[in-house]
Order: sequence, then C-alpha cells, then structure tokens
Amino acid sequence: MLELEVYSHDILIIGAGLAGLRAAIAAAEVSKNLDIAVISKVYPMRSHSVCAQGGTAAVMREGDSHDLHAYDTVKGSDFLADQDVVEFFVKRASVELVKLEHWGMPWSRTEDGKIAQRAFGGHSFNRTCYSADLVGFQEMHTLYGRALAYDNIGFYDEWFVTSLIAEEGQAKGVTAIELKTGRMSAFRAKAIIMATGGACRIYRFTTYSHTATGDGMAIAYRAGAPLEDMEFVQFHPTALVPSGVLITEAARGEGGYLLNSKKERFMEKYAKEKMELAPRDIVSRAEMTEIMEGRAYTGPDRPYIALDLTHLGEEKINERLPFIREVAQRLIGVDPVHEHIPVAPAAHYSMGGISANIRTATPLPHLFAAGECACLSLHGANRLGSNSTAECLVFGAVAGEEAAKLALSSTLPSLPSDKLREEEKRVFDQVLGNEGGERISEIRRQMMNIMDDKVWIFRDEHGLAEAVKAIRALKEKFRRAKVEDTSRVFNLGLVNALELDFMLDLAEVTAFSALNRRESRGAHSRIDYPKRNDTDWLKHTLAYHTPDGPKLEYMPVTITKWKPVERKY
Ligand code: FUM
Repeated sequence: MLELEVYSHDILIIGAGLAGLRAAIAAAEVSKNLDIAVISKVYPMRSHSVCAQGGTAAVMREGDSHDLHAYDTVKGSDFLADQDVVEFFVKRASVELVKLEHWGMPWSRTEDGKIAQRAFGGHSFNRTCYSADLVGFQEMHTLYGRALAYDNIGFYDEWFVTSLIAEEGQAKGVTAIELKTGRMSAFRAKAIIMATGGACRIYRFTTYSHTATGDGMAIAYRAGAPLEDMEFVQFHPTALVPSGVLITEAARGEGGYLLNSKKERFMEKYAKEKMELAPRDIVSRAEMTEIMEGRAYTGPDRPYIALDLTHLGEEKINERLPFIREVAQRLIGVDPVHEHIPVAPAAHYSMGGISANIRTATPLPHLFAAGECACLSLHGANRLGSNSTAECLVFGAVAGEEAAKLALSSTLPSLPSDKLREEEKRVFDQVLGNEGGERISEIRRQMMNIMDDKVWIFRDEHGLAEAVKAIRALKEKFRRAKVEDTSRVFNLGLVNALELDFMLDLAEVTAFSALNRRESRGAHSRIDYPKRNDTDWLKHTLAYHTPDGPKLEYMPVTITKWKPVERKY
C-alpha cells in the first residue's frame, strides 16, 4: 500500500449544498487568511439543494413577528424543538434573507417591489419568500457565485469522502477518493464542517436525488458523534406518482386542493381550519388514511391523491409554479392547467441527524454540522415547510463563523497513519476487493422496501422490530457483496457500495430509534401508541455507534416560553 497524499487546510467543509456554501462564505468573511476547502462528491450545482422549490421562511413584514414564527415552528415540531434554537433561528433568518438579496438572489416581487411571500403549511402568516418555484436552484446560484469570489475558498469537486479521522477525542481530518483517478487521499484540518444533507434515500419512494444518501451522518456516527432524533422522518404529502419528484407545497400555498376519489376535499376531516395547509405530518397521515380506507385513485403504480390546480388558471400557474407545470408535463404528460396531478406522500426530510448545539458544535470536538445532516433540535418531531432552506442559511453561516474562530486559535493536527491504512484496507480490500456473491443493487432494493413497508408513516412494534432484524441481516449480506466494476477510474459501482454501507447504518438507527420511542409525536406515528406522551417522551433520542448496533440515550428538550399543549390545526 502506498502512503496516502495528505492535503492540509484550516477548514474543511464536506458538502457543497446550501449549508456548505453558506458556511464557506461565512468563514471566508471572518478572515482572508483562512484556507478553506469544500469537498463534494458532485459538482456544487448538482447538490440536492438545487431541488428545493417552494421557498424560505423569514419574518419580513409588519403584522408578522419573530415570536409568531417561533411559535409556529415549536407547535409544528409537536413541542420537541429546542426553543432556544428556534428563537435564535427565526431572528437570524430575517438577516440571512436580506443578505441573499444583496448577493443577487432573484426573489419574486410584490407590485411595490418588496420580496414576495406566500403561504406554507403550519405557518400562521404568509412568510415564505420565493423565486417562483425554483428557490433552491436560485439560492444555490447566488451562493456559489458569491463563494467563487473569495480567493481563500477552494473546491474539490467529485471527491467522495469515506471516513472521518478522529483521535484523542478530536476530529482531525477525512479520507476521500478522487473519483476521476480512484486515488484515496487524506485531508487534515483545524475544523471540519459536515454539510452533506439528509438520509431519505434509505426509502424507495422519496423526493430525494439519487446522490443524497446521508454519507456525512454515517461517517460522523462511525467516528463517535451521536445521531439525534433519527426516528423523525418527514413525509411530503405531494410527491409526483410514480417517480417521487417533489411537487412543491407552494402549489397548495397558492390555493391548490387535495381531492380523494370521491372528489372530496378530505382535509376538512383532518384539519378543519388549515385544510391543505396543515403541517406535513398531518396532511401525509390524512392522505395515507384515505388511501388505506379505499378513497384514493387507483393507479398502475400506486394509489394516489389528486392535486387540483385547475382553478388557479394558466397565468398564475405560469408565474408562480412554472417548474411543477414543466415537471408534470414532461414526466407524466399531465398539464396542471387542465388536469389533476397524481400525488402521494414520499420520504422528504430527515428531522434527525448529527447531534449539534445552537452554535453547530457536535459532541466531537473540532467537528461542526449544519443543514439537513445536522440535528440542532430546530424542527423537533416535524419540520415546517420552507424552514429548511432558511436553516441551511442560518446555521451554515453559524458553522462557518464558529469553525473560523476555532481554526484561528488552533494548530493543524497530524493524522494517525494506522487509521489511514485501516480505511484504505476497508475501502479497497473489503469493499472493492470482495469476491462474495451478493449484489449491491439487490441489497439496496431490499433495504428500501423494508423502510417503505415497515418504517413508513404509520408504524408499530411488530413491524419496527422486523425492520431492525431485516436491516441487520442485510448488513451481514453486505459483507459478502461484490462490486462488479473493479477498476479505479470513476468507479460509481464502488461509490454506490460505500453509500449503501452508510445507508444501512442509518436505516438501522432510524428503525431502532423508532422502535424504542413508544408514543406518537409529529411525524412518528405509532398505531400501538397513538398518543403523545410528554410524561415519558418529551426528550430527544441520541444514538451512539457500537459494533453491536446503536446504543440509545435520551436528552431533555429545552423549553423557554411555550409549554407543550395539544396540537390542533
Ligand atoms: O414543498 C416544497 O417546496 C418543499 C419545501 C421544504 O421542504 O421546505
């Protein structure tokens, strides 16, 4: 084995989506003397953040207030959010919105030139800022353009990070494969920020890009950082059938209806006041109930609910929702100006992630986490739509600032060569060199089926226990999995295998944490424990990696102003 080449930087950011880019800019603004590197397995503009559609929530107007946004978020979270984090977030979101505006973000406008805002689920004020239905794409362009202007931010595009090197209780660097050569190198840094996105690719029916496989969560978990609240997975009520491509909640924010096969606006039964604009956990459960009770449309692929936008008219659809019109037309030949869009709930967002505090620091010193891969306890048991792009901006910036402060007062660590050798052996001998007969694609298919069948919207003890057992069996199978392509250059077979290895850990933690939370709260809906139970379960789950599977601990929720009450919409 050759010695790995070692690159050194002050700050290493893993992931070039919204949170990663925002972190890089924030760190560069702290000091031009800091050397900042962003590593991404895809070109930045192919990050999953470009798929965000509907908007970014922030208080911008008279009549709205930070307290109102905070309370909506806390209530939306089913009171599991840490309220100090929420209060900080809502204030900083307003600042970030204006910053993005100054950097050239092409927000949609009101007639008098203000940034336009629309309605979104669970928000009691129209506070979601938007740029038609291409918000993530436009925000990514704005941030990427801005990041390129700093001489001290460098990019390693199409490098796949395989592990986090931690020693003496400190994160010191990572190992990564340059995809075009297949060469593994090591990176050391004074501070590392994980910004790699969520883990919903563990499910089959999902709004996620194929590349969003939760790598950073699994990498941090294996290195000793706990994963928090992983049982809470958000299901978005309107994913296009059959592909799962997102049909933005803005479609309902702009006035769209959900109809069952009897042509009823069934949300009236589930959330009389908010109807289609109730939070996503409630709307997804309502849709599943309609489906399970036989009031959905029967499709060739799966039963579906109809999203009716026809009454909005062509002009409004073209102005506000041009992308979803194009998606529906191009993918399934449906023009929403004249026809209903077939939709169903799909896995959309990980409320859980790498446990981090209000300043994005994880329990593993020198490691920070921001964006969807992190769990700062901002969203609790259910996130409100349009709070996640805002989260990436707010906590991406905080992570960049904190990492910069730490880097300015730290020295570069040296990397333990035994750990580097171990990782090289794992990747190239155990995964790439494995001669076993199991197929990677088949193990992935089975994992996704288990998650869709047993760890979906409605859950119970029996199904979750079976899921944990089945995922563990798949982990065993993975030890005998063969990567068909054994070459080194741009070996996507190897990348898929490494991603699957990560996803199996994340699927196990998700199912295991869900099995152990014996109550229903937000997006975690146990048919055998249908009520929220604040006496026993007003607490966060922490999952620690052990060779025998996750070890769970629990942590109290921070309540500042709002005592938990019954959640009604
Ligand atoms: O529906 C959407 O546009 C998604 C927004 C979000 O997840 O915040």
